[in-house]
Amino acid sequence: MKDKRVVILGATGTIGRMSVNVLTRLDQFEVVGLAAGKDVKTLLEIKSKFPLAKTALTNISSEDVGFCGQDAVENLLSSTDPDIVIVGVSGFIGLKYALLSAKYSKRLCLANKESVVTGGKFFIDSVKASGCEIIPVDSEHNAIFQLMKSEKSEISFVYLTASGGAIRDIPTDDLKDVTPDRVLKHPVWNMGARITIDSSTMFNKGLEVMEAHFLFNLDPKKIRVLIHPQGKIHGMIYLKDNTVKALMSNADMRIPITYALCYPERTALFEEFDPAGTFSLFEPDPKRYPALDLAYRCLKLGDGSRIAYNAADEVAVQAFLEGKIRFTQIYDIVEKVIEKGWPKDVKDYDSIEQVDREGRIIAMEMLDR
Ligand SMILES: NC(=O)c1ccc[n+]([C@@H]2O[C@H](COP(=O)([O-])OP(=O)(O)OC[C@H]3O[C@@H](n4cnc5c(N)ncnc54)[C@H](OP(=O)(O)O)[C@@H]3O)[C@@H](O)[C@H]2O)c1
Repeated sequence: MKDKRVVILGATGTIGRMSVNVLTRLDQFEVVGLAAGKDVKTLLEIKSKFPLAKTALTNISSEDVGFCGQDAVENLLSSTDPDIVIVGVSGFIGLKYALLSAKYSKRLCLANKESVVTGGKFFIDSVKASGCEIIPVDSEHNAIFQLMKSEKSEISFVYLTASGGAIRDIPTDDLKDVTPDRVLKHPVWNMGARITIDSSTMFNKGLEVMEAHFLFNLDPKKIRVLIHPQGKIHGMIYLKDNTVKALMSNADMRIPITYALCYPERTALFEEFDPAGTFSLFEPDPKRYPALDLAYRCLKLGDGSRIAYNAADEVAVQAFLEGKIRFTQIYDIVEKVIEKGWPKDVKDYDSIEQVDREGRIIAMEMLDR
């Protein structure tokens, strides 16, 4: 029986298409809504799998789509009465859509990390006040969520694992010459363009440290990062009796998506996991990955710096993809934007949007120089 109504925001993206793959295998869910930015062709292909689903496009208009324009997502959510929304859009817009989804549903399967990073405590409190729960889809946070659920005693540290990206083994001095094509070939995960580039700079891990801080209410000192090239361990928690619990699975985002949809049940949909093999876990080199230290610095500096970190990185990554800047300039631009100085407390949506806008403008001005 189909007893849960699901909307997918960002249906045409990597997370969205993986969610579609999961949902076509699960009988108990009815997909009632699908939203995307501009990829109408893929949206309609997906719609053909879910005849009852209404559709929305935010960035362009199409006669074949139910709702178009800037209110399209709210119209979709208000007319479909979802139990669950998969927030799989990329970028800062995820904050607005995650807040709206919390208003109209009971569970966010949250892949979009920018919403947590930029919204911070305001975001977490707003979702809670709506009576909605968050189940993280980001694989590391999904792992920490699962590990913490079953643990009653205090957690000393959490470890987020990182693949180190496609160019992990290139000498640091050569990083300035790597091309977008080279960086886009991720060894473990198949992901959208921004997050793939961010994996190689570790801006992605920086965003995830911030995400973990707010999702699990953890002191940043308790959040650590280890490189784990095999991509089998997704997160670990260190307990006060000096034992460490790790969560392992295949590197397949469909697994955390299935978990987040079915929680608290577990459902086996994909191939078996073989834990045998050689594992390595090592600390990232701070010289090679300065974005990570910068993330901890931003957490200390406060709300505005975190928002600017995300905004400037989004602009700089786009510029790198378009061949306008070198790989190593992504960090330089973000650091300079942070150094401009940002307000410590940014506590409502309009103020967050304002800082995001200013962060982007300053980053773009730097590109022009
Ligand atoms: N990919 C992963 O494995 C992974 C893992 C963990 C977390 N995440 C997080 O999940 C999010 C999505 O990542 P992704 O890799 O799936 O990105 P992606 O492949 O680039 O897909 C982005 C999706 O968002 C939609 N979108 C973009 N801007 C929009 C807007 N203004 N309004 C409505 N829809 C918009 C796109 O629609 P159009 O294509 O129609 O423009 C597309 O459906 C990111 O926050 C990322 O950090 C991803």
